[in-house]
Amino acid sequence: MTEPTGLSSEQSAPPGCPAHAGGGAPSGAVRLGGLEYQQTPSQLYRSLRREHGAVAPVLLDGDVPAWLVLGYSEVSYVTGHDELFARDSRRWNQWENIPADWPLMPFVGYQPSVLFTEGAEHQRRAGVITEALEGVDQFELARDSARIADRLIASFAGSGQAELMDAYAHALPMIAAVQMCGMPDASTDTQQLVDDLRISLDAHEGDDPVAAYTRVGERIQRLVKEKREKPGADITSRMLRHPAGLTDEEIVQDLISVIAAAQQPTANWICNTLRLMLTDERFALNVSGGRLSVGEALNEVLWLDTPTQNFIGRWAVRDTQLGGRQIRAGDCLVLGLAAANTDPQIWPESHVGPENSAHLSFSHGEHRCPYPAPLLADVIARTAVETLLERLPDLVLAVEPHELTWRPSIWMRGLASLPVQFTPVAH
Ligand code: HEM
Repeated sequence: MTEPTGLSSEQSAPPGCPAHAGGGAPSGAVRLGGLEYQQTPSQLYRSLRREHGAVAPVLLDGDVPAWLVLGYSEVSYVTGHDELFARDSRRWNQWENIPADWPLMPFVGYQPSVLFTEGAEHQRRAGVITEALEGVDQFELARDSARIADRLIASFAGSGQAELMDAYAHALPMIAAVQMCGMPDASTDTQQLVDDLRISLDAHEGDDPVAAYTRVGERIQRLVKEKREKPGADITSRMLRHPAGLTDEEIVQDLISVIAAAQQPTANWICNTLRLMLTDERFALNVSGGRLSVGEALNEVLWLDTPTQNFIGRWAVRDTQLGGRQIRAGDCLVLGLAAANTDPQIWPESHVGPENSAHLSFSHGEHRCPYPAPLLADVIARTAVETLLERLPDLVLAVEPHELTWRPSIWMRGLASLPVQFTPVAH
């Protein structure tokens, strides 16, 4: 195989590797990761497609085997057939090879939340979330998001420079999400929860993510108790009121899932869009031309630089076939959402215009990002980008475009930092 730079072919794969488990399976499972991969994953996808077709044998951290599903129709098929490819990770045939401190444990370790439920139980839990999200007034959300944006911008506007990932893109959707769940606007308590969520989802050096996650759980438990006593017009109260009768424990789990699912993808959607607009001359950065361009940039990012570039995953319910591969019961499949969006089988017919939202960035099928979450994410992201460009109209990158680097993650596509400069504004 022609190896993409920064990747290695693993000829002596661990026992049980789907890539080597009989049935004429191919050799040459590819380790996902490496610096080159993080900067230009599209090269890897091209190379994997050439070598393996739509379903490629890969090795995750610690050389744990899995399948990467790269084809648009194969990802649609996997996500559309949960009777064959299901979400409960306890099915995995690799658990005996997984150490307790495996880096991907937060994504695959079973939790009793909506994320890992299946069938009727999933419909019950996801139905409650959908109805609770449907109650969010999108105009109010836009107003709240603009207010949060203004507050964050005010904290750096006077200095003429900022690092937008930390100071803006990550903070904004987190604050918007906890407020939609009923936390009071701008209180110390809300700030503490936002800080703890940030640490548990994205720990920096010196942070204690386990302690932070414990505090998040305690605060959400308290929120549920408070809303039981004094309901309001928020997601938590609507979940409590729902006739499906979820227990407080189930609601706590699902609220944490909603907040976590909202934060990272929306933050990276904002920052990848800002990056596109700041580096590509097709997107004029002025107020008059700005509005239309923001919608186009947001949509283009979902096609070409989607935040949830790979999603783990699904587990095969029984032996089956996919893309000409023999899949064993309990095999893990990683949804290659970014690869599927750029599948040559759907290009050039698919095009990236504002009209076309047939990408798989919100996944597909039973477990897809639940309606109307993508619409709410769009309101938050659009408001974040528009407000920033309106308040700081001469915003430019503070480094050369090629100096921007992507974070070392094969799962979430987002920048390590986004330094900008602008004319200081007094607030
Ligand atoms: C307000 C913002 C958002 C909320 C409240 C939200 C909520 C959720 C929830 C609750 C799930 C779990 C669904 C289930 O297992 O049944 C989910 C899944 C998912 N979301 Fe979102 N989300 C948001 C924004 C986004 C964004 C911006 C993206 C990407 C551009 C995204 C992509 C996904 C993907 C790929 C999944 C996994 C679907 C699967 O397993 O097939 N979400 N989201």
